[in-house]
Parts: sequence; structure tokens; C-alpha cells
Amino acid sequence: MNHKTRFVLSVVFCTSVIFLLHRDNIWRWITDTACGCPSFPFQFVLPKKPKHTNVAFIKTHKTAGTNMQTMMMRFADRHNLTVMLPIESCHVDFCYPQWFRASNVHPGMLSANILASHLRFDKKEVQRLMPKDTIYITIMREPGALFDSAFHYYLHHCRGFLSVPGHSLAGFLADPRRYYQRNEPLSHFTKNTMTFDLGKDKDHPATDTAYVQAFLAEMEETFSLVMITEYFDESLVVLRHLLSWDLEDILYFRLNMRKESTKKQLSPDLVSKARVWNALDTYLYVYFNASLWQKIEALGPGCVEREVRELRQAQDNLMRSCFKGKKPLRAAKLINIESRPWQPAGDMDVMGYVLPDNFSHGLSQHTQELCRKIILPGYVYGKMIQRSQAKRYKACHQQ
Ligand SMILES: *[C@@H]1O[C@H](CO)[C@@H](O)[C@H](O)[C@H]1NC(C)=O
Ligand SMILES: *[C@@H]1O[C@H](CO)[C@@H](O)[C@H](O)[C@H]1NC(C)=O
Ligand SMILES: *[C@@H]1O[C@H](CO)[C@@H](O)[C@H](O)[C@H]1NC(C)=O
Repeated sequence: MNHKTRFVLSVVFCTSVIFLLHRDNIWRWITDTACGCPSFPFQFVLPKKPKHTNVAFIKTHKTAGTNMQTMMMRFADRHNLTVMLPIESCHVDFCYPQWFRASNVHPGMLSANILASHLRFDKKEVQRLMPKDTIYITIMREPGALFDSAFHYYLHHCRGFLSVPGHSLAGFLADPRRYYQRNEPLSHFTKNTMTFDLGKDKDHPATDTAYVQAFLAEMEETFSLVMITEYFDESLVVLRHLLSWDLEDILYFRLNMRKESTKKQLSPDLVSKARVWNALDTYLYVYFNASLWQKIEALGPGCVEREVRELRQAQDNLMRSCFKGKKPLRAAKLINIESRPWQPAGDMDVMGYVLPDNFSHGLSQHTQELCRKIILPGYVYGKMIQRSQAKRYKACHQQ
């Protein structure tokens, strides 16, 4: 097929897709992107790559990974895939901060397509269980912002934080060595949290450049994509291209993140102190932020920017449809209490949202289902999937 024929075919195809999808204007953006992105011409005409369905998302703490987790659950649900989830006694995080172990995986979910829960990453053990062609991704956040978030979230649970006079972050960062308690049970939330989650030694001296280099090289080799919280939507667009997913697969509601962004920012002085204290995390972040931007450069920054705009437009459209133009209401009391994970003291928890009574008016079945699922927090969704998968497993094993 020559270029001209391909072009004509692609125009004909796109036009008919536009015609079909315009009937429900939420989906208009899918067509725009499919036809418009200059880096990916003719993608519907040439044999389209199938979606990649074996994906391990290594969820790190306090990085806004929950949006990603929910998205992965929805992807699994929508494509009838198996999610790897823990045994009941390991709650929702494979008994973190223990290492990830096969013995903590529900026996019916040992061979799975999707992994998206919190865990302490043991690369060999995860790779032993997940299919050979699994694509690994994770997410990192600017270490100053991460530490600020961890400090307030875990303040009442870490002696290292509680022992600071006045419980102030500035106080802690003025002399972290004085307050840090490396052997307390949750000390990984008080230093180099990402390093710890990714399976390395949070207390290793950051001056050991050989260690740092080897760590970065290993992460680079393991992860096809390291998403960056500060550029979440750009990361998603890169992810979509990496996995050949469509834009509905990466749709999420920016409900929790908005709240996040209204918090006041740390002063530059505290940011730099937090980065020094979390030096291993900082090496990781600087390296993988640069790496993300190289990937964006390779895809074409204009294309990525355009898809980001379309993603946000689709989020707004869907949100208006689901909430009927009303402000989303948080569901503090409405979500099944037994499915709540451990919550820190205080009011920092992240709950789901309630849809208005008449939300289904004028919506297709498909959109209604999307509204119902997209508002669920990741762990609630995970628990639902866990129950249905476990039930299926039990049914098979009783015969
Ligand atoms: C989902 O997968 C199960 C087997 O894992 C199969 O029995 C079932 O028919 C599938 N459902 C759909 C809708 O594809
Ligand atoms: C991430 O990298 C980009 C490109 O180099 C840079 O412009 C940006 O400031 C970095 N972001 C952060 C939060 O460090
Ligand atoms: C849904 O109900 C609200 C009031 O609760 C009303 O303002 C809105 O117009 C209704 N929407 C539809 C599509 O019925």
C-alpha cells in the first residue's frame, strides 16, 4: 500500500469513526487524538498494536499513585483481566513494609495480568510471578513535596516526627539526625520513602556514588516508564502510547489532586533541606524526571500537550455528566467501613464521592458504569475485585 492510499483510507476511517462517536460527545476526543497526532499517522490503517495487558504498577507512598491504581483496576475490570491481590490477612498492601512475597498473594491470583497495589518491591519475586512480557511502571514525586506530605500524614504514627518540639516540619529539618529513629516500625516514612518502597536501603550513605549509580541503572532497566506526579497527565499520555491503550483507559477524576494543590507550598529553604535529608530519593527523582521529559521529547511535545488537553476536556465532560453539573460530594460515611484501610489520625483520609440520585438521566449504560467506577478509591475497588476473584476461585476449587 503506498502512502497516498494509506492517507485516503485513514481519512475515510477517521471520518466514519467521528460520525459514530459524535453521537455521544464524551467520546469525541478519542477520535481527535486518533486522527490528529502527527507522530502516529495511519495508526488505524496499519495493523494496530493490541493493547498491552500485562502490567505491574509499583505503587509508591504519598505520590498520588491512587489515581493510577484505580485506573489499573478499571482497566482490568473492563478487559476481564486478573489482578494480583494479597491474602486477606495482608490487607491491601501485601503486608507492607514486609517484602513482597508469593506467600502473601491470594492463591487464586498468583498468575495475574495486573499488579497495582502498595508493596515493598522485591524485583526477583515479582518477576518470578508476573508473566515474562510484563511492563513495569512506577511513579515518583518531588522529594520536598513528598516529605511534607508524609510528615503530616504520619505525624502521629512516627516517633521521629512526634518527638519534634511543636511537631513542625521546619523543626525536624533543622536537625533531622536528632529526631530520626531508624529502627522504629514506620521509619521508612521519615526518610527516603521511595527508595525503601523500591526495595533499596533508605539509610545507605548517598555519598556512595557507586551505590547510587547501580540503583539508578537497575531502576532504569526494570521500569519502562517512571511517571512523575508533578506531570501526571503527561506521564499518562506517554503510558498510553507505551501500552497502546486508548484514552478511555487513562481517564480518571482529578478529585483528590485538586485538594492537594490548594495546600500551601514549602519554602525553598525547606524544600532544599528535605531534599538533602532524602538524598537518595532526590537522585531518583532528578534522574527520572529528566527521563520522562526525554520520552515526551521523543513522542513530540506538541502531540503530548494536545493529548493532555483532550484528556482534561474529557475529564471535565465526564464529570459534568456524572455529577450533573453539581459539585462532587465526598462520601465520608457512605463507603463500606470494613473496606477502609488503615487510616492515619486526623482528617487526611481520602474517600470516595457520591453521585446525585438522578445521575443516570440521559447517560448510556456504558457512561453510567464509568461514573460509578471512576469515583471509587483504589483500595475500595481493589477489595471489590478481591472479593469477586476470590469467589470465582472458591467456586472452581469446590468442585
Ligand atoms: C472472563 O474470563 C473468564 C475466565 O477467566 C471467562 O470465563 C469469561 O467468559 C470472560 N468474560 C468475558 C466477558 O470475556
Ligand atoms: C523536570 O524536568 C524538566 C525538564 O528538564 C524541568 O523543566 C522541570 O523543572 C523538572 N521538574 C521538577 C519539578 O524538577
Ligand atoms: C438532577 O437533579 C437536580 C436537582 O437535584 C436538578 O437540578 C437537575 O436538573 C437534574 N438533572 C436531570 C438531568 O434531571
